[in-house]
Amino acid sequence: MPISLDFGEKVVVVVGGTSGINCGIAEVFAAQGAKVAVASRNQGKVDKTVNLLEDLGAEAMGFTADVREPEALEAGLEAVHQRFGDFDVVVSGAAGNFPALANDLSCNGFKAVVDIDLLGTFHVMKAAFSRLRKPGASVINISAPQAFLPMKGQIHVCAAKAGVDMITRTLALEWGSSGVRVNSIVPGPIDGTEGMARLATSDDARRKALDGVPLGRFGTPADVGNACLFLASELGSYITGTVLLVDGGWAQTNCGGVSEYLGALAARQAPHRD
Ligand code: NAP
Ligand code: COA
Repeated sequence: MPISLDFGEKVVVVVGGTSGINCGIAEVFAAQGAKVAVASRNQGKVDKTVNLLEDLGAEAMGFTADVREPEALEAGLEAVHQRFGDFDVVVSGAAGNFPALANDLSCNGFKAVVDIDLLGTFHVMKAAFSRLRKPGASVINISAPQAFLPMKGQIHVCAAKAGVDMITRTLALEWGSSGVRVNSIVPGPIDGTEGMARLATSDDARRKALDGVPLGRFGTPADVGNACLFLASELGSYITGTVLLVDGGWAQTNCGGVSEYLGALAARQAPHRD
């Protein structure tokens, strides 16, 4: 029988799915007929995204939760489970980022990003597991090149995203016997996103980032969504514990030497030091 990318009757949950890359992932699944739920901290963004997904013909719902609050996630995921049933796909992509050199970063600033990216991913995994379809579910954590490439001004993100990928790999071990696959995706520079707006703040910075992409173009949220579709489909049924780069080859050039640029940007943005 031909392999189908039809996700009709499949349930997809995208945590942090109300803007940028993660919203693009939700849209890709909605366009394939999935029932899609999204979550983030802001009710207005949740409502807007649910409307967008419904306009694509999907059955959609959403809830507000901060991934740093496990009880809120638990309640929101329970509401999704009550309405849609077991989850076939869970994407965990909530994250925070700002450029800051270690010496200018407060302990709380470091903690804020680790709490959202790393602890938040753990919370999503914990709250999702009992509601996953077993066997068959596919869990995808959204990582970043900072997980394996050190970058100036990114100590908090590097530490957090490296941890995210180790969550992926550890859960691939622990959940494999339940028939649950767990993978990470590392997006490259995805145009029009908050991440790009925060880290590539000038035309010069955008040009430098682009120069480091062997495929010669910025990525789109749909590029990342299509990779999620592949991992979640039958085509990805023997893939677990992997960290998949969807970056046009960017990491092969050390992200075009963006580290030096980010270090300089962080120094410029730092509060005045005596
Ligand atoms: P974005 O638009 O800011 O997306 C972040 C999403 O997470 C939003 O829906 C945001 O909504 C939600 N969120 C943030 N903090 C949250 C919290 N504490 N609890 C719950 N939800 C929270 O960013 P993006 O640039 O598209 O990035 C998306 C993902 O891709 C991130 O994991 C990022 O690390 C990764 N990534 C991005 C790029 C890039 O080029 N942009 C490159 C590599 C990796 P609310 O603010 O409403 O909560
Ligand atoms: N430089 C240095 N420190 C910063 C900072 C910056 N640009 N922005 C925030 N911080 C510090 C704050 O000063 C605070 O530390 P302090 O208490 O010692 O002063 C700490 O980080 C927490 O800040 P706060 O604003 O209370 O955090 P929050 O929980 O409301 O927001 C952020 C979290 C800071 C990550 C916020 O940028 C966010 O919500 N980001 C989500 C969207 C995003 O980053 N998208 C891109 C994804 S790639």
